[in-house]
Amino acid sequence: MCASAASSESDAILQCIQAVRADLALLVGQGSLADYIPELAKVDPSKFGIAVATVDGRVLSAGDADEPFSVQSISKVFALTLALGKVGDALWKRVGREPSGTAFNSIVQLEHERGLPRNPFINAGAIVVTDVLLAGHQPKEAIGEMVRFVRSLADDETIAIDPSVAESEKAHGFRNAALASFMKSWGNLVHPVELTLGVYFHSCALAMSCAQLARAGLFLANGGRSPLTGLNVVSRARARRINALMLTCGHYDGSGDFAFRVGLPGKSGVGGGILAIVPGVAAIAVWSPGLDVHGNSLVGTRALELITQRMGWSIFGP
Ligand code: DON
Repeated sequence: MCASAASSESDAILQCIQAVRADLALLVGQGSLADYIPELAKVDPSKFGIAVATVDGRVLSAGDADEPFSVQSISKVFALTLALGKVGDALWKRVGREPSGTAFNSIVQLEHERGLPRNPFINAGAIVVTDVLLAGHQPKEAIGEMVRFVRSLADDETIAIDPSVAESEKAHGFRNAALASFMKSWGNLVHPVELTLGVYFHSCALAMSCAQLARAGLFLANGGRSPLTGLNVVSRARARRINALMLTCGHYDGSGDFAFRVGLPGKSGVGGGILAIVPGVAAIAVWSPGLDVHGNSLVGTRALELITQRMGWSIFGP
């Protein structure tokens, strides 16, 4: 793209996200905070940030886009990418690839399906993915590897874990302990439950801003290669498949509605963030802490819906 076309595209994106932010100002604060992790209930519900990182390396942002927040389940995308790099398709013997149609922390299906989680984005699936990351490591090393990986993706050494969020979740993570223990009983966890959960809680407690998240997700918009660092993170085929899983499973029992309204692969977190991928074009990160009934950002989803409509960015057509 010539320089003037690139700058007019940047202008259009910036105008779009500024307008979306203004249009949704009155909605901000709606929804509920994830108070089952007490530390997340302390977050200011009026925060609202949007960042778009384009495949030619520009980052456009609006609102609170440079303020780190708890990425929570968005980390499952990075954990899955790392685990696939370690064990490849063998991962699919331990985790499925189907939407669950159930809540992110549901145990019902897991019992019917003998400890084999439906997909890597529900909590049970992400706990198995984390168990893969622990192989051959002490928990601290596995956590360090995850942090280094995300820093390298975003090309930003300042990204860190918020230890108070990790502790808060550990102290209240009874549901995850149940899921992990149940899978252990079926032989689908190799490591001790408390070690795998420790790494899982720390990964969820990564703190990143919208700008950092959009940059970290950019390899998925660019055929597996980071345009920021030139690093080949995954193959083109693997990037497509991760995007497919984000589309079908990234919002749990709200995934169908997210595809209907936004039309992009996306992954939400109970910290109120969403990472969405526009293949070949950009990665978008939004943050607004108020959640809908499925635990996905209420205003964040609306913002993405408006952005994709106005920019013609749905994967299902302009
Ligand atoms: O395990 C949990 O419940 C949280 N650490 C993550 C859940 C989450 O982010 C669900 N996403 N919307």
